[in-house]
Amino acid sequence: MDKLVAGNWKMNGGLASNRLLLDAFTPVSGVDMLVCVPYPYLSQAQQRTPSIALGAQDVSEFPAGAYTGEVSAAMLRDFDCTFVIVGHSERRALFHEDNATVARKAAAALAAGVTPIVCVGETLAERDAGRVMDVIGAQLSAVLEVLGVAAMARIVLAYEPVWAIGAGRSASAEQVAGVHGAIRAWLATRGVDAGTLRILYGGSVKPQNAAELFAIQHVDGALVGGASLVADDFMAICRAAAHR
Ligand code: 13P
Repeated sequence: MDKLVAGNWKMNGGLASNRLLLDAFTPVSGVDMLVCVPYPYLSQAQQRTPSIALGAQDVSEFPAGAYTGEVSAAMLRDFDCTFVIVGHSERRALFHEDNATVARKAAAALAAGVTPIVCVGETLAERDAGRVMDVIGAQLSAVLEVLGVAAMARIVLAYEPVWAIGAGRSASAEQVAGVHGAIRAWLATRGVDAGTLRILYGGSVKPQNAAELFAIQHVDGALVGGASLVADDFMAICRAAAHR
């Protein structure tokens, strides 16, 4: 299975700067490339980079109706989004999304034919307290409870240690290997047929550390923040993931 390299632009960009960035993204064979742009730019990205998959950074848990400010999964499909990030740590921390909300968002995405990229990960305090898999297990359990075993196999997971996001330094190879392996084991224990379920790593992925990260067992791609806003860096990360 090819690796998936997803750019998460977060709340960055503008029509003019996006144009330059999107035009510099060219498909790389042997890797699945994805850009997750802010909602207002979905149409621009859809038209400028039809050869690269398109995604959003959040989605409503509701299908339609009186939910001012929300964007439904069906609306994302209208713009050819095939993926949507849910439960990013910034949404959990800054916008108070709990595990159950994240799970319902993942279900709403799947119901509309959009693959959710469910983010999980611990804070530094939780790591220091030896609670990494307690925290991730609770995040995963909530999703499994809502989706069920069969649908769980159809999502993408992203392990993003909160302390490595925007930090300049990724988690170490040992830390990444440990958590990705533990997530696989967690899924297997619960009967999830995770053969094609990809587990991405996110947190300060850069051209300098991409090859090392992609060489780790059970790292099936990357969720890239800051480096996805620099065309050369994002392309270099995609090339490092190709045919791995
Ligand atoms: P950085 O790559 O900027 O650390 O961000 C990671 C992230 O949050 C991707 O979703």
